Amino acid sequence: MKLTRAVAGAAVLSLCVLLAVQPAAAAAAGGNVEGTVREEVQKAIKADPGVGPALIRLVFHDCWVNGCDGSVLLDTTPSNSSSGVEKAAANNIGLRGFELIDAIKAKLGDAVSCADIVVLAGRDAAAILSRGRITYALKTGRRDGVVSSAAAADATLPQSTFEVSQLKGNFAKKNFTTEELVVLSGAHAVGVSHLSSFKDRLNAATATPIDPSYAAALARDVEALKGQQNTTDPTERFNIRDMDAGFRNASGFDATGVNTTAVGVLDNSFYHATLQNMVLLKSDWVLRTDGEASGSLSDFRDDAAKWEAEFAAAMVKLSNLPAEGTRFEIRKSCRSTN
Ligand code: HEM
Repeated sequence: MKLTRAVAGAAVLSLCVLLAVQPAAAAAAGGNVEGTVREEVQKAIKADPGVGPALIRLVFHDCWVNGCDGSVLLDTTPSNSSSGVEKAAANNIGLRGFELIDAIKAKLGDAVSCADIVVLAGRDAAAILSRGRITYALKTGRRDGVVSSAAAADATLPQSTFEVSQLKGNFAKKNFTTEELVVLSGAHAVGVSHLSSFKDRLNAATATPIDPSYAAALARDVEALKGQQNTTDPTERFNIRDMDAGFRNASGFDATGVNTTAVGVLDNSFYHATLQNMVLLKSDWVLRTDGEASGSLSDFRDDAAKWEAEFAAAMVKLSNLPAEGTRFEIRKSCRSTN
């Protein structure tokens, strides 16, 4: 009798404990989502540093087209074959990181949307690549869309051959200022670009002003990369900081204020390079040609902390672009609708 009572008491007690910890457990589960994403991103960047820049770009390419809805991850949709989805868009050349998103999704299951995973992973990549200097909080609760269109991605994402007025107009459509355009372009401090995205800069007939010594060093390097990568369209590192000393010296790069040992680090070195005409993309260089944008370029070159803070704020704004559309779900696989 006594024993039974004790057991019953224990059962009631454990039920109370269970109820009491329920909200805390739910909060911990929320914490685990962010912890799991961070852990997976950390592991992946350790194994392949190129994944970091890829994740930051994924945030832009997902959220710019239809808002943050995971649409960039779809391999097909009910209304589109693989040739018609965002991944197939010309402007999405080189987009990568999908396997890591899949791996994170496999760990988190149905409770978390693919759209949330994209922005959380991008946030962690920015924190890791900036060595902890770019951090920001994000809300979760995004839902996944069911539409993904290559044509929409090509119509919506900016192109590397855009003039500054087109870049400004593209950002204004999403309610982003010229300053935010300049801030976010600083992401091109990290990662790579295909030759086809900057070949206009190496052709005298189409070139926008580019430092001639840098252009010559770049042309030589690109030829070597074609052999190394066994392709006519190799990928080149964006940042002259990340090139070896031979390349930097041949270009006459003035590294004052740039930490040349911080290879692969997300910092304000993009602005040092742009203001010396030593950047790959026309769309990066043309920021110099706009009065408003060029003022921001020198501000961010001269004040790393200001750029880091503004980059974090602009990434939050980007990660919060609301999903457009009428049908949403939490996808089971990030690559297909349920
Ligand atoms: C302003 C207009 C922009 C244009 C025209 C542009 C264009 C490009 C192009 C052409 C590439 C190289 C693609 C290739 O050939 O492989 C690239 C890569 C990249 N972009 Fe942008 N981009 C812009 C804005 C942004 C923004 C807002 C972000 C993020 C905040 C971003 C982050 C990146 C990153 C990190 C890479 C390297 C990706 C990797 O290494 O896998 N870009 N971008």
